[in-house]
Amino acid sequence: MEHTNDQIALTVNRMTYRYRTRGATENAVDDVSFEFEYGKVYAIVGKSGCGKTTLISNMAGLDLPTTGDVIFEGESTRVMDRYDYRREKVAVIYQNYNLFPVLTVKENVLYPMQLKNVPKKERERIACEKLEEMGLGRSYWRRFPSMLSGGEQQRVAIARALAGGQRILLADEPTGNLDAENSAIVMSTFRKLAHEDGYCVIIVTHDPQIAEESDCIVRMSSGKIVGAEETMHA
Ligand SMILES: Nc1ncnc2c1ncn2[C@@H]1O[C@H](COP(=O)(O)OP(=O)(O)O)[C@@H](O)[C@H]1O
Ligand SMILES: [Mg+2]
Repeated sequence: MEHTNDQIALTVNRMTYRYRTRGATENAVDDVSFEFEYGKVYAIVGKSGCGKTTLISNMAGLDLPTTGDVIFEGESTRVMDRYDYRREKVAVIYQNYNLFPVLTVKENVLYPMQLKNVPKKERERIACEKLEEMGLGRSYWRRFPSMLSGGEQQRVAIARALAGGQRILLADEPTGNLDAENSAIVMSTFRKLAHEDGYCVIIVTHDPQIAEESDCIVRMSSGKIVGAEETMHA
């Protein structure tokens, strides 16, 4: 029987990524190996240009490593159906929320499920459930994104991202546009998702205070992971 460990969400194994436009010797991600577990929030930190976004893009299945692998449930992203992987296994959110401005909060969460032909009753149920989980009760559902704070908009984006049943949440600078108060709210949402619901949450941040709110700080420098330390929250 194959050895499996259901605590591990994603394994990055000797992963290297080189942009074709760059010099042959420079790797944006350079021989990185790491295991990300369910139930934890990880913060990837490091100077601008050190490879954080490249690593996240590869874990999200948006890119394939030049060498090495990103492994989910024993399968490399090289061999799996990456369309299914992106649609069902990993959720990605961004700094700018990317909500549809002409759709209400609830319609934003419903929309991707509509594209996937989730039955109407089912998608209604899931949308309401995910919004409630993000602390966005009924009074928010008919509002438009412009009528929400940045932190609330980001929580709508998280609800939408998780409506496909994904257990892994990847976020590139999710609090980059938020003030300290809203950042703290979004971070406590991530901690709840990881600690109470067992999600694996991996964020990129340049804010040391945000990183301290995670369980594990993963430090990158020049394309390499140069350290990983548990915080007091772990
Ligand atoms: N599309 C691209 N084409 C060529 N080089 C890129 C591209 N995107 C990023 N890079 C380079 O790869 C390295 C890592 O970038 P990136 O992953 O965006 O770092 P970070 O997110 O940590 O700021 C940098 O040297 C950057 O200039
Ligand atoms: Mg980046």
